[in-house]
Amino acid sequence: MIIKWKEEYSLGVEKIDQQHRKLFEIAGRAYELLKDELRIDKYDEIVAILEELKDYAVYHFQSEEEYMRSIGYRKYLSHKVRHDDFIEKISSVDLYQVDHRQEQYLLEILEFIVNWIDRHILGEDKQIIA
Ligand SMILES: [Fe+2]
Repeated sequence: MIIKWKEEYSLGVEKIDQQHRKLFEIAGRAYELLKDELRIDKYDEIVAILEELKDYAVYHFQSEEEYMRSIGYRKYLSHKVRHDDFIEKISSVDLYQVDHRQEQYLLEILEFIVNWIDRHILGEDKQIIA
């Protein structure tokens, strides 16, 4: 999995682009730690990074929604529903699930988050400036 902000994510709105970069930066940190075979007892730290990612996503969505309102974006409400669904989904995940599958479990969550962000930026955020 490659977790990196790409030029094609660019909306040309500096504040939002910076926040999108930061989401990838946080997710990348969780992934690096997950893949670090030399680190033992890393799961609490990974869970903490995923919590940080969720908190930052909440902050970022508020900021993006404020931007959409400021330009009178006509699909504001349906876009906000997508944000709310995502937060609800990742809030309902039990990150503290501890069993022999924990590494796989955290990897699946991270993949879900990164794929969602990727598709959301390319499919929905880009429409804001289209
Ligand atoms: Fe968005």
